[in-house]
Amino acid sequence: MKRDDDAAPVAPTGVDTEKPSAARIYDWFLGGTHNWAVDREFARALEKQWRWVKPGARHNREFMNRVVRAALGAGIRQFIDLGSGVPTAGNVHEIVQEELEPGETAKVVYVDYEPVAVAHAELILERHEATDWAGIVHADMRRPKDVLRHPETLRLIDFDQPVCLMMMAVLHFAGPHDDPPALVATYRNALAPGSWLGLSHMSFGGQTGEDADGLHWMVEQYRKTSNPVWMRDREEIEPLFGDWPLLEPGVVHLPDWRPVRELRRDEEGARPFAWCGVSVHP
Ligand SMILES: C[S@@+](CC[C@H](N)C(=O)[O-])C[C@H]1O[C@@H](n2cnc3c(N)ncnc32)[C@H](O)[C@@H]1O
Repeated sequence: MKRDDDAAPVAPTGVDTEKPSAARIYDWFLGGTHNWAVDREFARALEKQWRWVKPGARHNREFMNRVVRAALGAGIRQFIDLGSGVPTAGNVHEIVQEELEPGETAKVVYVDYEPVAVAHAELILERHEATDWAGIVHADMRRPKDVLRHPETLRLIDFDQPVCLMMMAVLHFAGPHDDPPALVATYRNALAPGSWLGLSHMSFGGQTGEDADGLHWMVEQYRKTSNPVWMRDREEIEPLFGDWPLLEPGVVHLPDWRPVRELRRDEEGARPFAWCGVSVHP
C-alpha cells in the first residue's frame, strides 16, 4: 500500500487556513505535515514562550499509543477516540494494524470537530484501506448524543461489548460551563462493563517560575483562538474517572504511565505539566 500521508497538504473544501487551528498546531508539534503557515507561526511563537510544548505533545501521543496497546492486550477490540486530531503517524488504527494478527479485527471511531482533522482522517483511512473497520465522526464531543448516536458510531461500535474510550489532551478544551465531570460521566454510562477510559489533561502541575509563566502565556494565547483552553489540577482530573477503579499506576504524569523508555534529559522538564490515567468499568 502506498503511504503518501506526508505529502504537502491541500486545504480540504471549507477549511479555514487563515486562522490557526488546535488540531493542525498539534500536528506540527508531532512532526506532521498537515498544517499551514498560520499554524506553524502560532506554534513557533508558543514554543518560544513555553519550551515544553513539543516534548509534552510527544509524551501525550506516546501515552495514547501505550494505552491502545494495553487495551488490545487486555482483549478490547473497540476504540472511540474523542478529539482525535489530524491523523498524524501513530494513530489508533495504525497501532491496531501493527498489533493484531492478520485476520483479527478491531473497530475504531475517531471524533473531532475540526473540519481539517475530519477531511484528513477520511483521506488517510481510505488510503490505508481501513474504512471497513475505522471511521471518523465530525461532531463536538461536548454533545455526547451527537457522538454516540452518529450513524458511523453505530455502524462500528457494539455498545454491549467493551470499548476503550479515549479523551487524550481534549478535555482542556472544555470549559467550566461544559461541566467536564458530567460530560465524562455521560460517556462512561454509555459503555459496557470491561470498558476502559483513557484520559490525559494539561495542568500547571503545581509549578511556579519561568516554565509555569510560559504555560500561563500559552493559555492566554489559546483563549484568543476558537479553541480556548482550561488547565486543571490533579484534584479536578482524578474525579473524571468516576467510580471506575484506576489501572496501575493510577493518575500520574504522562511519561510515568507504564513507561517503555527512559526520558532524555532535555524532555524531563515537560513532565509536571500533564496528568493521565486509565480506569476500567468493573
Ligand atoms: C491536542 S489535540 C489531541 C489529539 C489526540 N487526541 C492526541 O492525544 O494525540 C486536541 C484535538 O481535540 C479536538 N477538539 C477540541 N475540542 C473538541 C470538541 N469539543 N469536540 C471534538 N474535538 C475537539 C481538536 O480539534 C484537536 O484535534
